[in-house]
Amino acid sequence: MVYLDNNATTPVDPAVADKMAWFLKAHFGNPSSLYPIGRQAKELINEAREHIAKALGVARAEIYFTGSGTEADNQAILGALDAQPDKKEFVTSTIEHPAVQETAVYLEKKGYQVTYVPVDSRGVVDLDFLRDAVTPQTALISIMHANNELGTIEPIEEVVRIAKGQGALVHTDAVQTFGKIDFKVDKLGVDLLSISAHKIYGPKGVGALYIRKGTPMAPFIHGGHQERKLRAGTENTTGIVGFGEAVRILGEKFPQDRERIERLANRLRTGIEEKIPKIKLNGHPENRIKSTLSYSFLGLEAEAVLLALATKEIYVSTGSACSEDAEEVSHVLLSIGLRPEIARSTIRMSLGRFNSDEDIDIALRELPDIIEKLRKISAFHPEDI
Ligand SMILES: Cc1ncc(COP(=O)(O)O)c(C=O)c1O
Repeated sequence: MVYLDNNATTPVDPAVADKMAWFLKAHFGNPSSLYPIGRQAKELINEAREHIAKALGVARAEIYFTGSGTEADNQAILGALDAQPDKKEFVTSTIEHPAVQETAVYLEKKGYQVTYVPVDSRGVVDLDFLRDAVTPQTALISIMHANNELGTIEPIEEVVRIAKGQGALVHTDAVQTFGKIDFKVDKLGVDLLSISAHKIYGPKGVGALYIRKGTPMAPFIHGGHQERKLRAGTENTTGIVGFGEAVRILGEKFPQDRERIERLANRLRTGIEEKIPKIKLNGHPENRIKSTLSYSFLGLEAEAVLLALATKEIYVSTGSACSEDAEEVSHVLLSIGLRPEIARSTIRMSLGRFNSDEDIDIALRELPDIIEKLRKISAFHPEDI
């Protein structure tokens, strides 16, 4: 199998799986219990919290575990707005993940004034538009750190500067950058930041939200006192321990992993561009997550390419995993100005820790062949597009 869909999810690192299996067998205590087996479980949760805090360069008390990256995004936005009832404006971009985008739609229904900041043809948010959109009534700006379909990295430090001028909070969805690029929260300057374990070789169903100390924040899951009363419900202890281990391993492997993955991605990019005519690389040409490659194969339907690759056990994506079954064309690709027929010809390949040179050899052997064959039988000709 050649797995080139690491932005959708990553394989669990074997060391993470071992740690989780050990925890499941050795620690069943409820972390809220005061006797030793409860306290041990709590200590292990806090150890995981410490690994994440260290990786982000923040205090341990500023990290809150959630049930996913999606939940972290929802908590950040709904919680920050709920805690500032006098401010009724929310600003976001047109290319957010559904976790943010659908929350924005929900807020519109609730009577909030929501502004969607457009992006340019590379997927970079329009800072002039943002400057005009933010007012003293803006409670929160949520703009992703890097886009999951394009890989384009957003100018978050600039966004923060604009926000601070008007007293607005800033949230960034860093689900696709954490573990892929080197950053610290303080340099970005955001108040809220979301991450997810299953994008960094950890388990699915666990995420975390960084909340800068002093940020107004209300819970949106109500119940017990877990996560300092912000996220009630007995913790996903095994998932959290796995998340912590995945982050600890990142700390050890990041520089070598990053160099190797980027080298493989460059090989793939150069090979595709040399071997396949009539293609378009989407996203920012340089300021991007190097492991994410989005190509439009003019004249083709991306689904046909995906299925043909799957018969060779090469797995890629037509967009974000969350909109994979959707009939509609990716809102991200339309936002960067692609015509629907070009958007529909777009494949995303995303590399990760477990990819090898052999994977790239196989992809570069099979993909040009598949594209050529499909173009021969395609109703559209690339020249017509
Ligand atoms: C940018 C971005 N935000 C949020 C999410 C959602 O994370 P999770 O799958 O943990 O809910 C994803 C997952 O694809 C993502 O790519």
